[in-house]
Amino acid sequence: MNNSDIAIQVNPHLTISNYLSTENESDVLHEILDGLKAEQKYISSRFFYDEKGSALFEEITSLPEYYPTKTETAILKANATNIPGHYTNIDIIELGSGDCTKISVLLDAVQKNRMKHINYIPVDVSEAAVLKSADILSLKYPGLTIHGLLADFLKHLDQLPGEQKRLICFFGSTLGNLDRKQATNFLMNLKRIMNPGDQLILGLDMVKDSSILHKAYNDSQEITARFNKNILNVINEIIQTDFDTHNFEHYAFYNEQEARIEMHLKAAKDMRISSPLFVEKIDIKAGETIHTENSHKFTLADIRKFETLTGLKIQNIYTDKEQWFSLVSFINI
Ligand code: AVJ
Repeated sequence: MNNSDIAIQVNPHLTISNYLSTENESDVLHEILDGLKAEQKYISSRFFYDEKGSALFEEITSLPEYYPTKTETAILKANATNIPGHYTNIDIIELGSGDCTKISVLLDAVQKNRMKHINYIPVDVSEAAVLKSADILSLKYPGLTIHGLLADFLKHLDQLPGEQKRLICFFGSTLGNLDRKQATNFLMNLKRIMNPGDQLILGLDMVKDSSILHKAYNDSQEITARFNKNILNVINEIIQTDFDTHNFEHYAFYNEQEARIEMHLKAAKDMRISSPLFVEKIDIKAGETIHTENSHKFTLADIRKFETLTGLKIQNIYTDKEQWFSLVSFINI
């Protein structure tokens, strides 16, 4: 690996590398500011996941209305023994690893005496998430080597380790946060860094009845609303703005045209937002929205299109009986 200079050895089985420390604070400030000054205001969904946001997202995953995590986990469980192949040595790289429940389902299917041949590489922007999951997994799977990467997988694909066969896992339909073009570009970039024989497992939430989709993002306990509003607290923390979450309503709907859930924060009144870090003020009118997330939904045709456009070969499409969610196994040949 070319990052030995910044790798921290936590214990014999656990090292952590941080690529985020090189991110420029003023770039982040300008990125956020650009979004807040745009015609349709927006905040990138990557800012959801501070400690509070990650905890709220974990709560979302067990809500009765939020079917994606449950469905994906069940599909994974049913097919886990087929997925990691039979390589002797393998790097399992999980992009956006978050908590470690999904990889545990995969690792549960691995024979104990093979564990020492596996390197697990969780990649996430949340240091808390990487440390916590590394901690849990190193206890649960003796012999497993873990190398956590604090990184933004959109920017740091080139720094993924690649000395041995890789199984890249991208669960949770996180790809759906990108717009269609960005998603294709991302998969093309991924294909470019994959060696022959490397495998990609991609979790995708499928197009379905819009009332099911609507409920999944408008849960009755309003956890999703709290998750959505928390992004303003994160922004306040980063750029010292004075957003008051009480002045915003959670607004999530299914956009049929784009086949995506959109989450917005709708202003309940006129507001002027300021920060000691910049001179300009941000005016928000009552009823105006800040777009915080897209969550695209996919069809079988979309999956085939990914195959054609990227050149990655579909090995298998695992799904549930209602076809609400798909786990697509691609191989780079
Ligand atoms: C983690 C991006 C897949 O889009 O369903 C859950 C995030 N947002 N509820 C999704 C989310 C609102 C989730 N992803």
